[in-house]
Amino acid sequence: MSQVLSLRAVGKAFHRGGLTTTAVDAVDLEVGERETVGLIGESGSGKSTLARIALMLITPSCGEVRFEGEELTALSPRQLRVRRARMQIVFQEPAEALDPQHTVGWSVAEPLTARRDRPSPGEVRERVAEALRMVRLDPALATRYPGQLSGGQQQRVGIARAIISRPSLLVLDEPTSSLDLSVRAGIIALLQQLQADLGLAYLFISHDLSTVEYLADRLVVMYRGRVVESGPTAALIAAPGHPYTRALVDARLDVDPRVLPAPAPETAVGATTPAETGCPYAHRCPRVADDCRTATVTLAPLTAGHEVACLHPLVPAR
Ligand SMILES: Nc1ncnc2c1ncn2[C@@H]1O[C@H](COP(=O)(O)OP(=O)(O)O)[C@@H](O)[C@H]1O
Ligand code: SF4
Ligand SMILES: [Mg+2]
Repeated sequence: MSQVLSLRAVGKAFHRGGLTTTAVDAVDLEVGERETVGLIGESGSGKSTLARIALMLITPSCGEVRFEGEELTALSPRQLRVRRARMQIVFQEPAEALDPQHTVGWSVAEPLTARRDRPSPGEVRERVAEALRMVRLDPALATRYPGQLSGGQQQRVGIARAIISRPSLLVLDEPTSSLDLSVRAGIIALLQQLQADLGLAYLFISHDLSTVEYLADRLVVMYRGRVVESGPTAALIAAPGHPYTRALVDARLDVDPRVLPAPAPETAVGATTPAETGCPYAHRCPRVADDCRTATVTLAPLTAGHEVACLHPLVPAR
């Protein structure tokens, strides 16, 4: 499988009021053609920052971002705009993508009309209608304003906007987290259908494992800006290697989100500051040992395709 997205040693530090926050720290991540990678971790673990780096909506402090084989970090804003037609994002809050001052049709069309090679007005209208139909909305909604739609309809409009430019990759940043339980299942089912119809690759982000586990081929677990575990979904859930992944697996509700969507409430990172040396999870880890506080902890293979960053993983390496 060729890789659509490939991040290498990507990092991002924010500087604010004399404080430096390392939101993303030396992350490697790959998403293959038509693959769904689930990115999970609690609030503040760096998921949204990584999502925005993947699309070069923010520039990483270090590392490489490859999309469809091309390194993006050295490209100009204009060159990036052209590439962005092939990679789109769906935000947690549909309002982030929908301008309340403009009609639904205008917002859906924007990825096409923002380009120099914009199609004719007639073609734009047709493509908007087609995109709205694909997300199971009445094309007549194109003349309405976002404020006239329900939350679920707004998120469908956000998805229509994301697919109109025929991307190969969608980054879905908690696309169902702000929606009522009753509409979540429909959005998950829609995303599954669109992936099958359009051959999309998904980077599906959630703080909640039960939302992504039915969709994801592979899971990547982040904790405080680092990847602490990654591997095939079934293997990682059956036998997590990292104590943090174990906690996420134990906290999940064992239900199919398409039937009964009930994600766990979002928890924030604890107030305790992790030590600068040793394992960043040591202050919460039930398995912590003396060497955890001093040794450097890096990702190492457990089995083929399953990696964990823990000195004393729950399953031994094979
Ligand atoms: N623009 C920013 N300026 C300063 N700090 C930021 C900014 N964006 C994110 N952060 C910080 O980076 C960390 C990771 O945030 P984020 O990527 O939003 O995590 P998540 O999506 O997993 O909740 C948090 O500590 C957050 O406060
Ligand atoms: S390295 Fe030590 S503290 Fe860190 S997760 Fe593993 S056992 Fe826990
Ligand atoms: Mg986020």
